[in-house]
Amino acid sequence: MMTKAMEQTLVLMKPDCLKNSLTGYVLTKLSEYHAGLIYAGAKVVSITDMLASEHYAEHREKHFFPWLLKYVSGQVHFAQEPQKQRLLAFVFQGPGAVAAVREIAGPTNPTKARLEKPGSVRSLGTVIVVTDDNGKVIDEQSENLIHASANTEEAEREIKLWFTPQEIPARLRAYETAQADALCYYKSGRALAAYEDGAVCLFAPGDLVWASDLKIAKQYLAGEDAEDTLELVAAKYLLNTAE
Ligand code: RTP
Ligand code: MG
Repeated sequence: MMTKAMEQTLVLMKPDCLKNSLTGYVLTKLSEYHAGLIYAGAKVVSITDMLASEHYAEHREKHFFPWLLKYVSGQVHFAQEPQKQRLLAFVFQGPGAVAAVREIAGPTNPTKARLEKPGSVRSLGTVIVVTDDNGKVIDEQSENLIHASANTEEAEREIKLWFTPQEIPARLRAYETAQADALCYYKSGRALAAYEDGAVCLFAPGDLVWASDLKIAKQYLAGEDAEDTLELVAAKYLLNTAE
């Protein structure tokens, strides 16, 4: 059972955070005695389109979605240095973790953050003004350094999307796990029970997986209506593949 003290949240240090060398500053603000939270997971991720679009699925229909995928995947800040197109992902745990990190992050828009919450992380971000050929402002893009889960439901979805259970110490795992009792491969949007050329193995019998992932994968394997997308399960197993 998840207790209040076990509440977790996902933090991403986006590519602009790395580019501006603000990683240490942000970690200091989120560290144990500053935020009252502890590390439950941490890794370097070269993000795939699959992970980015699952992560920001709620924004799929928004006009800024194509830019958002480019931004979070590092193509905006490291266009000429593909090896640097990565971000840092963390799970923090502690009482009220979601609200604590949102408070430290500040408002989404850096200009608003500077006005309303000076000292918040996003007050150090950048707003890019987009103009048309006549110089008229047509859009704004918020390069806001970090992502922080919006609520506990989103945190659970996001942590399971970004991390496997093995990447989080057993005593810090907040969500139900299960032992896989079937093979599951992924190829071009399909779940396969047996290997085909080009398929990637997501998990094998005996592997520890999120219980909800196992349920979804089995629904796809059986050709049944599934509770969520297969990519929600698969994305974390297909990270760091770009060469
Ligand atoms: P995040 O998900 O990254 O933690 O940010 P958030 O909850 O504060 O904001 P959200 O509404 O989820 O937006 C996700 C990211 O999309 C960019 N954004 N651009 N042009 C715009 O109107 C706009 N709105 C949002 C930001 O980079 C934001 O972090
Ligand atoms: Mg959000």
